[in-house]
Amino acid sequence: MEEIRIENLTKSFDGFIAVNDVSFTIKTGELFSFLGPSGCGKTTLLRMIAGFETPLTGRIMLGNQDITQLPPYKRQVNTIFQNYSLFPHMTVYENVAFALRIKKVPHAEIDSRVKEMLQLVKMEDQAAKYPNTISGGQKQRVAIARALINKPKVLLLDEPLAALDLKLRQHMLIELMNIHDAVGITFIYVTHDQSEAMSISDRAAVMNHGNIIQSGPPDDIYERPASIFSAYFIGETNLIPAEVTSIEEEYVDLKCNAGDGEFFEIDSTFHFRPEVGQKLTVSLRPEKIAISRTKPRAQEDINVIKGIIEDILYLGSHTQYIVKVGNLKFRVFSQHKRVYFDDKALDWEEPVWLFWHDTDSWLIDEVTPMGMDVGEVNVFERPFQTSRGVKRLLKSE
Ligand SMILES: Nc1ncnc2c1ncn2[C@@H]1O[C@H](COP(=O)(O)OP(=O)(O)OP(=O)(O)O)[C@@H](O)[C@H]1O
Ligand SMILES: [Mg+2]
Repeated sequence: MEEIRIENLTKSFDGFIAVNDVSFTIKTGELFSFLGPSGCGKTTLLRMIAGFETPLTGRIMLGNQDITQLPPYKRQVNTIFQNYSLFPHMTVYENVAFALRIKKVPHAEIDSRVKEMLQLVKMEDQAAKYPNTISGGQKQRVAIARALINKPKVLLLDEPLAALDLKLRQHMLIELMNIHDAVGITFIYVTHDQSEAMSISDRAAVMNHGNIIQSGPPDDIYERPASIFSAYFIGETNLIPAEVTSIEEEYVDLKCNAGDGEFFEIDSTFHFRPEVGQKLTVSLRPEKIAISRTKPRAQEDINVIKGIIEDILYLGSHTQYIVKVGNLKFRVFSQHKRVYFDDKALDWEEPVWLFWHDTDSWLIDEVTPMGMDVGEVNVFERPFQTSRGVKRLLKSE
């Protein structure tokens, strides 16, 4: 087993802690992502694994070998940086061959290995070109081939797709997954883009301020966030400040604070046992909420609350509604499984019912921070705009 084991790794720069006592294990062959906002310590962590930074404390194990003090070239770990750093005066072929030439590998072997790599990244017909005559996506492929030619045990990728446009990024993500499957080595992938991390990773770790906040398979982090930070950093969510009023066998009753002395009641199943009177936060994903002008039939395990539509944003595959419930603002995604204008009825300022199953309210054992209600986290921090075209269409009915 060549798993990577990080034990209590800390790095500080002039007293500032960039990575704080971080421990984790990455399995052999896994595609593992570090995800977090700018400055949270992702690159620093990767640079320590690569050997470009020395940790203040802790150690890095690759299989049974302690590599903490080894120089980068002795680690069997290669890194791909965002800017590709290809040699401009060398052809694609020579860029990929470079590491083998340094090692004085026989010509015939170099040729077959370079060709194999170029085939892997689908660049075999571009071998004679120079870096300034190929596209960004192609440069990225060359960088991958160059990093893999040495047969490293681990490939580190630091925001490798950041310079590419959206369509190409999505395409390269799939290519990267295919390459990962083909070579079978461990990939450690760093990004601040949650959708990238969600789609590519076997497992991911959410980081903030130098700490790992939560790690696990992407769907686990998305559906079962362990903290307010992971709930709103991964995907969109509604955070509801709540207090436990009673505990039944399978669910809890909650009194939710909508501000200005307004309250509403909901139920939630639970994954930890809270106490009556405890204040906590409910995370509710926008796609889990149904929205309707007519009140749904009362059912035991369905939560129903009333609000007023404040904004409507048409997004093609779905519409996003911002619905005010007291001072809280709920973000609701309504999927257009049929043609959108089939259900065009909902309008600005209209009273509506929001409802969802109580297994979809997710309890987080943290008090919603003062002044950080649904509106602040989800609406004000992430600006949204009204879709004027649709507004006009609807108004002119
Ligand atoms: N060489 C350095 N000297 C001083 N401070 C540093 C150095 N390298 C990183 N830092 C600081 O450590 C913190 C973590 O930086 P790091 O580059 O690891 O963040 P990151 O998560 O990769 O961010 P980004 O998403 O912007 O790339 C930042 O506050 C940064 O300013
Ligand atoms: Mg970085």
